[in-house]
Amino acid sequence: MDTAPKKRIFSGIKPSGDLTLGSYIGALRNWVALQDDFNCLYCIVDMHAITVRQEPAALRRRTLEQIAQYVACGLNPQKNIIYIQSHVPAHAELSWVLGCYTMFGELSRMTQFKDKSRKNADNINAGLFTYPVLMAADILLYQADLVPVGDDQKQHVEIARDIAGRFNQVYSPTFTLPEPFIPKTGARIMSLQEPLNKMSKSEQDGDGCICLLDNPDDIMRRFKRAVTDSETRVAFDPENKPGISNLMTIYSCATGKTFDEITAEFDGHGYGDFKLAVGESVVELLRPIREKTADLLNNKDYLAKIYRDGAARASNLARKTLDKVYRKVGFVGK
Ligand code: TRP
Repeated sequence: MDTAPKKRIFSGIKPSGDLTLGSYIGALRNWVALQDDFNCLYCIVDMHAITVRQEPAALRRRTLEQIAQYVACGLNPQKNIIYIQSHVPAHAELSWVLGCYTMFGELSRMTQFKDKSRKNADNINAGLFTYPVLMAADILLYQADLVPVGDDQKQHVEIARDIAGRFNQVYSPTFTLPEPFIPKTGARIMSLQEPLNKMSKSEQDGDGCICLLDNPDDIMRRFKRAVTDSETRVAFDPENKPGISNLMTIYSCATGKTFDEITAEFDGHGYGDFKLAVGESVVELLRPIREKTADLLNNKDYLAKIYRDGAARASNLARKTLDKVYRKVGFVGK
């Protein structure tokens, strides 16, 4: 029997847009698979969301929906710590301290900062700049070993590791050095309209995006309109057939079929039949999630119990790290 202590995992999603099929296949589904073998914290990072202007009512709605969807997708609130970032003040507190051990130059080099500055040229605020420091605080507060993220977030986990290493060097070992954890099955789902771009929850591009709570008619319509190519063969070739390859990835995730099986299944059929089959498989994949989410959202007390319990458990862990950090930097204890 393996008696090694379970490693700790931290991950989070910003409630800056509705969760999509891409969030499910790329993140949530993997989180569920990890919950038995690791000690996991899964956060709704609302403080990160306000680095871009948010409509307050929409942010509140999406935050609650996101909690419900985490659970509806299969995350067990007893096994995992599921909570809202702004409920645990230690994130902001540690973030301030870590900011004093992060260099202006290294933050200037972050690709996401450069990207977002271009997209939000009228609101390049200090929060957008120090975003990676708050993210480092998220991870380091809980001494996380592994951080499941997509490729685009690897650089943020690396800077968290650099900041942790620097702090450990100046004082004494304080933080676990985290590693990005990119699951083998973490398929990247692309837009149905622009299959070279990621299916994005922040830039919900009309027919390109499927949200977890979309109704079956909308889902079917979007798959019927999915952009493909001028051939007729259902074959996996991301370079020359990005649209069809993306649909195959989705169909494979929804049904468990391999690419070869899918190619054989649609041999001699047109793209039309294939798109219908993919749409139907996604409708069935999302149906139980949508129904369970609706149930949970109708049960506000139960939902509140989940995020309050989560915040209390997270606070306990976070406090231990923060106390240590405050002591090491020379703050007088209370
Ligand atoms: N920056 C992440 C994203 O945009 C979200 C995030 C915030 C996160 N804090 C985190 C992810 C800590 C992993 C760990 O997707």
